[in-house]
Amino acid sequence: MIAITGASGHLGKTTLDYLLTKTSPGSLIAIVRDPAKVADLTAKGVQVRTGDYNNPASLAASLAGVDQLLLISSSAVGEERVRQHTAAVQAAKEAGVKHIFYTSATNPSPDARFTPGIDHYLTEKALKESGLTYTIFRNNIYLDVLPMVIGNAAQSGKLYFPAGDGKVSFALRADMAEALANALTTEGHANKIYDIGSPVAWSFSDIADALTQNGTPVEYVDIPTSAYEAELMKHLPAPVVKVYSGMAEAMKHNDFNQPDTALQTLLGRPPVSLTAFLKNRD
Ligand SMILES: NC(=O)c1ccc[n+]([C@@H]2O[C@H](COP(=O)([O-])OP(=O)(O)OC[C@H]3O[C@@H](n4cnc5c(N)ncnc54)[C@H](OP(=O)(O)O)[C@@H]3O)[C@@H](O)[C@H]2O)c1
Repeated sequence: MIAITGASGHLGKTTLDYLLTKTSPGSLIAIVRDPAKVADLTAKGVQVRTGDYNNPASLAASLAGVDQLLLISSSAVGEERVRQHTAAVQAAKEAGVKHIFYTSATNPSPDARFTPGIDHYLTEKALKESGLTYTIFRNNIYLDVLPMVIGNAAQSGKLYFPAGDGKVSFALRADMAEALANALTTEGHANKIYDIGSPVAWSFSDIADALTQNGTPVEYVDIPTSAYEAELMKHLPAPVVKVYSGMAEAMKHNDFNQPDTALQTLLGRPPVSLTAFLKNRD
């Protein structure tokens, strides 16, 4: 049996959709906080169980009979997330789960500029120390977040962002989901760590060039991080601003410049490129 936490989220739901093309619905368990969000999965024959990262007992119960768990990282931040993930690993061990697949991030470290990378470092550590078989997907930044970063650059002709010349090996979330489904249904992934991103990396000047191909010239303007933070503070709470500005700072320092062929190998085809993703997008 394969169980997936975060099954109501974008990555979990898409992974389940791919799994349904590869294995029987009866061998799949979706773990969610709110079963109403995945009524379509119930209709397809997937078992839906309730589990909350903040309630380890509920997780342990939901993991009964599970062999492989895809632990999708929580949307919480900081210490709360580490506590949630650590409890989930412990609950899985107690429930007899044999193998955990975990969605981490590129270059996790105890002093990551992109602070979620600290949570991922600590979760990876807890997972390795659990003694369970693991497979870690160090997911790069989703291409899917780019429209939010780009804003109205295609209309204004200016792409303002504080990433300097830093490059990022962006990849499409749906490609990561397909790769996860492939890994969950094939052998050879025990105790492996995969850098999941594109086999090339792109700078923000490259992004401006790709947008320019759509017809209107777009220029990348590298702005100070402080100006970016001041703009975000108008719309978002301070802890969220810290995560976004940390992401930009990490991009500037090439922390996400991690080209790798693991995603391509797991997919058996090239992943969707930034250029293809931005083509004809306004
Ligand atoms: N690489 C990137 O660029 C990038 C970008 C954004 C996020 N991420 C990370 O990747 C993860 C998956 O991405 P996504 O796009 O699928 O995110 P998403 O759509 O926000 O999904 C997050 C999932 O986590 C579940 N969740 C949150 N708190 C929980 C809790 N206390 N107990 C149980 N489940 C909980 C949510 O459940 P509900 O439906 O009940 O809320 C949802 O299913 C995110 O959670 C985040 O850690 C990566």
